Amino acid sequence: MTSLTKLPIVVLVSGSGSNLQSIIDAAANDLPVDIRAVISNKASAYGLERARQADIPARVLEHTDFEDRPSYDRALMALIDEYQPALVILAGFMRILTPEFVVHFQGRLLNIHPSLLPKYRGLHTHQRALEAGDKLHGASVHLVTEELDGGPVILQVNVPILPDDDEASLAARVLTQEHIIYPTVIRWFAEGRLRIVSGEIMLDGDRLDGPKMMTFNQSATF
Ligand code: GAR
Repeated sequence: MTSLTKLPIVVLVSGSGSNLQSIIDAAANDLPVDIRAVISNKASAYGLERARQADIPARVLEHTDFEDRPSYDRALMALIDEYQPALVILAGFMRILTPEFVVHFQGRLLNIHPSLLPKYRGLHTHQRALEAGDKLHGASVHLVTEELDGGPVILQVNVPILPDDDEASLAARVLTQEHIIYPTVIRWFAEGRLRIVSGEIMLDGDRLDGPKMMTFNQSATF
């Protein structure tokens, strides 16, 4: 497939970028996307190194160089716009976004969150699930709206919590599944199966009234 027929995307990261890697790997296989740039608010983010290794432009826009959140988000919007993406992928981008930013990319801004939303919005999701004594945890891919981790969920995966789990072991198990569900949703979008019409999610022509669920894939490894 030529880059003309591929969906142009930009990926935003703040850290390790293992979700980014799953998208890079899928794109090297048959996911029809053109990753035009990877952008980070942290120069030290390992995700930038992953981008460089895949010959993808790696850009840094440090939030500490800006006076306030609105001015940072405006600069970030302009940087993303240089690449004219059809989809902006938040992959461990640990920033609260201004309404202006969210509205600018409305309908083409996706996030992955490590919980079964609406449970455990915000930080420390694994620890909170463990402390609550939950038996099931998971991850969600959702459309981003102005409400933090509150946009409509497209796809979720259940992940079992095992008796000996600690935060690290649970986070690692959840990540193996994140690496499946994020490329899946991006594929739906790139293949035209998933469309956002006036804030409604349409999958294969039908309105999605609740998240699609994917079952835990035991053979997936980190
Ligand atoms: C992932 O677990 C992702 O779901 C989470 O950060 C991690 C990034 O890992 N995102 C959030 O918590 C957003 N609220 P990665 O850098 O290895 O992809």
